[in-house]
Amino acid sequence: MSPRYAHITGWGMAVPEKILTNADLEKMVDTEDEWIVSRTGIRQRHIATDGQTTATLAAEAALRALEVANLLPNEVDLIIVSTSSPEHIFPATACLVQDKIGAVKAGAFDLSAACTGFIYAVYLAAQAIKANGINNALVIGSETLSRLVNWKDRDTCILFGDGAGAFVLQASQEPGGVLSSVLRSDGSGGDLLSVPAGGSRLPTSLQTLYDGQHYIHMNGREVFRFATRVMSQATQEAIDAAHLKLDDIELVIPHQANQRIIEAAARGLNLPMERVMVNLDRYGNTSTASIPIATCEAIQQGRLKPGDHVVFVAFGAGLTWGSALAQWSGPFPVERKIRPKRYRWSARLRSILRRLIRHIEGLIWGKNNVIL
Ligand code: ACO
Repeated sequence: MSPRYAHITGWGMAVPEKILTNADLEKMVDTEDEWIVSRTGIRQRHIATDGQTTATLAAEAALRALEVANLLPNEVDLIIVSTSSPEHIFPATACLVQDKIGAVKAGAFDLSAACTGFIYAVYLAAQAIKANGINNALVIGSETLSRLVNWKDRDTCILFGDGAGAFVLQASQEPGGVLSSVLRSDGSGGDLLSVPAGGSRLPTSLQTLYDGQHYIHMNGREVFRFATRVMSQATQEAIDAAHLKLDDIELVIPHQANQRIIEAAARGLNLPMERVMVNLDRYGNTSTASIPIATCEAIQQGRLKPGDHVVFVAFGAGLTWGSALAQWSGPFPVERKIRPKRYRWSARLRSILRRLIRHIEGLIWGKNNVIL
């Protein structure tokens, strides 16, 4: 069998309209715009409002990515949602997205690797395509971390923002697409960045609520030191694994956590900042959504074009870190023009009908009390 390649053929992003500026934060906690900008580079972030959730943002970004790729929701084989702010412990947010967009033939699961999750998800989808298991995958990074942030904790509340980004990956025998990936972890640093309660180890109780253990807890200095160590290293490893050189890379798109971490990584590689994408000033740290959101903006700004080599690199809770190198593709040429957003209504109708049928079946089986 001739080799298969996993091309990135669609991209989309969605952020809430509501913006929280550093000046707004000055009224909420003991902080200053000047401190936040000089220590992080962040000026504002988008915050989800009522009705906006990790799944609604993910579905919006996914439909935009499908539109770029000219792919129908029912042609998607696999949906991976990377998130640290899932709607529930279960069901998976990916299944809620599957239902919202009407991806009737797709398997769907969530991936938990914090801010590095999007890279892990791209790797898994690309491997499934290359192994001939699937043809079309939707990889989504989506977060509403504003709902896990303690808005009285100035160490963390200044950092995070909400949003979602998505890629469509498709199979082709044309060389290109995802060429290499590096995935790493070090669980010994798990306590440096965590939401301690709400899982099976420390179930939610009045005490955990009282102690604020359902919020994000972070040792910022330690995470900073870890991040500056691994970002340049992981970028170089992905380049080496693809048998390329740094000079072959047109753009590096790093996880958007902190301007100083990104600059340190660029310095470590001897890479000029013109070849590094930064947009955290307007979005803050959107965790696993930051790389696809930054990618969408790089394309809008003409900084990423078909044929370019791009490295995505991230670090996050876990601890996790990783990178992926792709030769940028763009959509496959097709005659048809798909408008996936139009399918939202049929997906909604289908969902209601399936619930209704399940309800009627429940009434029938429940009444007769028969187990076959
Ligand atoms: N406003 C004003 N002062 C503040 C604030 C604030 N918002 N937050 C902390 N300070 C104070 C501290 O109390 C400290 O005061 P002290 O010296 O009197 O004790 C001083 O500022 C310096 O604090 P540091 O923690 O040393 O500041 P630092 O330069 O390390 O910056 C920061 C803090 C921005 C959090 C940095 O450590 C960082 O970015 N770390 C990485 C965090 C990160 O990227 N996390 C996300 C990981 S991705 C994921 O998986 C979700």
